[in-house]
Amino acid sequence: TLLEASNNGNRGFTLEENEDTHIKRSDFPSGFLFGTATSAYQVEGAYLEDGKSLSNWDVFSHSGGCEENGDIADDHYHMFLGDIELMHSIGIQAYRFSITWARILPRGRFGKVNPAGIMFYNKIIDNLILKGIEPFVTINHVDLPQELEDRYGSWLNPEMQEEFVYLAETCFKSFGDRVKYWITINEPQLLAELAYEWGVFPPCRCSEPFGNCLDGNSDVEPIIVMHNLLLAHGRAAKLYHEYFQPTQGGSIGLAVHAYMYEPLTDSELDHQAAKRAFAFHSGWTLDPSIFGDYPEELKEYLGYALPSFSLDEKNFMTNSIDFIGINHYSSIYVKDCTNASCSATGNRAIQGFLEAVGERDGVPIGEHTGARNSYVVPKGMEEIVNLIKIRYNNKPMFITENGYSTPDLHEQRVDELTNDVKRIEYHTKYLASLAKSIRGGADVRGYFAWSFMDSYEWLYGYDVRFGLYHVDRQTLARTPKLSASWYKNFLSNNSDFV
Ligand code: NOJ
Repeated sequence: TLLEASNNGNRGFTLEENEDTHIKRSDFPSGFLFGTATSAYQVEGAYLEDGKSLSNWDVFSHSGGCEENGDIADDHYHMFLGDIELMHSIGIQAYRFSITWARILPRGRFGKVNPAGIMFYNKIIDNLILKGIEPFVTINHVDLPQELEDRYGSWLNPEMQEEFVYLAETCFKSFGDRVKYWITINEPQLLAELAYEWGVFPPCRCSEPFGNCLDGNSDVEPIIVMHNLLLAHGRAAKLYHEYFQPTQGGSIGLAVHAYMYEPLTDSELDHQAAKRAFAFHSGWTLDPSIFGDYPEELKEYLGYALPSFSLDEKNFMTNSIDFIGINHYSSIYVKDCTNASCSATGNRAIQGFLEAVGERDGVPIGEHTGARNSYVVPKGMEEIVNLIKIRYNNKPMFITENGYSTPDLHEQRVDELTNDVKRIEYHTKYLASLAKSIRGGADVRGYFAWSFMDSYEWLYGYDVRFGLYHVDRQTLARTPKLSASWYKNFLSNNSDFV
């Protein structure tokens, strides 16, 4: 049978009814939180306002790093009230957003706290709470004050750990009476890779020369950066657990990017490579944050290049997270590169000597989305949640990001872009898969659709659209896509879209 979206009037479309799209709010536990997510640089704009200093992304995007920038972005800085109203209107229960470091500590820990920055986030938090929406705050999502980048050479320097702890402390003190869910750092491993291996995010350090990336810094840099990011997280979490949690009563976690890796062939080597891929990506962050040490695979393959944690560090890193934030979009095949010939990138240490490929014998692993290396593979959601459940003894999990981007087609009309049937199919199928893992016992407590609205997708600018709301680049008008109506229906337990 076909289900008709009659509640959408003449915008009606049909979804094929099958097990995977037949998913209801009531298939999830009653306390389960459904939300949407954004990050500061991607939506705020107002890059020169109210005492904010320049961030590394302001400088990078202006210096030819990208074609577009986040100077205005979605102007969420001025439009946040309306945005929260829209979230409320579709019944969203939680909103994940991040803090612009340069807005509240323009000069880092040796400068003053900027009251206008604190006030901005106070207004967001208060208005969310007023609307019954739970704030989930990411303390750092990619951007940081340029001054810190200049002073320290950024995350390569252990001093950045103290800078981050000071930022976190400022957040706990200012917002912790109302914020009960903290995410210290977003996708540390991907940041280390993009900024210190591939050289495509600032400070654009390249581990080895390739393509346009000619610096040829040591391959060890991303490994050191990871160590500093992890310890920064651990120290901030220790502070929270010791001094803030007892009175404020919230919880703290971090968010990892989590592909589901499948072996490209049945060979033992590819199976091992897929296991290694998890260890070198999500595991690189999660193992230290839960077990207090790096995964065995990292020790084996990185040898002396891998720093070790002191006893004291091991202690505070162990169980430094109360929950695991999972950013999951796609599955991908993995090919072993220890024995096989791979592309130049496949043989790199930080990758785990493996190559991620989207196709097997010319057949893609799933339908390709608008984002690089991203395919629609709904069963991957259940698989990655189960894998994380088993490896980390069913620690509480949140899906902190999951979403679908339209392919980069220019000159699409608003009505084409808002008629986003494929996004609805994506969310419903991934949710059905998530529900299966929960039925199987996985302790997943919430789901955030990435993203609330179309926003600045880093190197890809504004062409890659993930939003439930369409944002017009000229007027900044927000228009609900069909997916926003779907989410609303779903949240009111009327998900069949009829
Ligand atoms: C990962 C990042 O956290 C976010 O900033 C990005 O926009 C989405 N995934 C989509 O690529």
